Amino acid sequence: MPPDTSWFNEAKFGMFIHWGIYAVPGRGEWMLHDEKIPFDEYRSYASQFAPDEWDPQDWVNVAQQAGMRYMVLTARHHDGYCLYDSALSPDDFTAPRTAAKRDLVGEYVEAARASGQRVGLYYSLCDWHHPGWQAGPESDGWSEFIEYVHGQVRELCTNYGPLDVLWFDGGGPGCAHCWQAEKLVAMIRELQPDCLVNNRGLLPADFDTPEQKIEASEEGRLWESCLIIAHRWGYFRNEQYYKPATRLLLDMVNIANGGGNLVLNVGPTADGTIPQPQQEILREMGQWLAKHGEAVYDADRCRYGTHGTWVNGLTTAKGNTLYLHLLLWPGPGWAISDLGNTVQSARLVTTGEEIEFVQKGDRVIFPSLAQAPPDPHISVIALELDGKPQKAAE
Ligand code: GLC
Repeated sequence: MPPDTSWFNEAKFGMFIHWGIYAVPGRGEWMLHDEKIPFDEYRSYASQFAPDEWDPQDWVNVAQQAGMRYMVLTARHHDGYCLYDSALSPDDFTAPRTAAKRDLVGEYVEAARASGQRVGLYYSLCDWHHPGWQAGPESDGWSEFIEYVHGQVRELCTNYGPLDVLWFDGGGPGCAHCWQAEKLVAMIRELQPDCLVNNRGLLPADFDTPEQKIEASEEGRLWESCLIIAHRWGYFRNEQYYKPATRLLLDMVNIANGGGNLVLNVGPTADGTIPQPQQEILREMGQWLAKHGEAVYDADRCRYGTHGTWVNGLTTAKGNTLYLHLLLWPGPGWAISDLGNTVQSARLVTTGEEIEFVQKGDRVIFPSLAQAPPDPHISVIALELDGKPQKAAE
């Protein structure tokens, strides 16, 4: 039986966390590969990665303040370093067996779960430092490597209680066959029947994962855009580029318009701190969601004002309610057109007050909107309709 997916659509907003020994030098999670660092030199960062003061509750607090409802942590990224206690790492390249001396995954899972967050783990199929991966799928070592990968996933599925998401990555450009993906997913279904699996284990599984873009999947299919607040996934020491909260909120609304989720990445420092600028942006998003969350959580795919056709902002829908997200506040006298429903009431979600409207056929006019935008990011109007929002027939 496929897992129950209803929580995923309700949740809408999650925290993606890229954390590993690459945070020590702070040049992003691809440094081993991109800078062709000799592995022994890279490995020495594991002796410096000792987040003694780290408390996973701090992450959970930031996620909660942001209005996030699930979290996904890199249990192992492409470099092969495990944040968890894997008995299968060929060279004990794991947090508990190096300087960190802690099972960081175990502590994270416990804290997230205790606070009501849904819990996800990211796992990279490829492992740059594993001899089997280096030799490639045609080599004799490949089947041993596959056994290692499946074994590590089994460890994650058996040692940390119920998981809500397994987020694979790093499988391309391989094939489902080389990864024995069907066997892998079957094992997960058996061990973790309620866990959702993403589509990067080279099978479609439960949800699609457009990366750094917003692209709705076909109707009925779950999808989640993964985006970053900064320019890199893993911590970058001198990060100079952060997306403003308004921009990220607009992305979130755009995603909700298509019925998808946003998993937004943070890159903690080696001591486990989510960089302050990232925290501040997340808190701003949370403040907006505290007022406007009804227009995002559990939103349906919207059939009115779809992506790209809405000049002032975007729309979302839930049941018979249509939400107008106004990035540009138009002021009094503004109207929408092409609405295929009858409006029963109109309310400014930002303040809760009822607003005046006049409907003339497919047009709805708002004669007395305030001059100035009520919200510094995106103001939202809710229209209660006589049915699910739809466009007027041409
Ligand atoms: C990109 C990055 C990778 C990251 C992934 C998340 O592929 O290269 O490091 O984990 O995005 O989707």
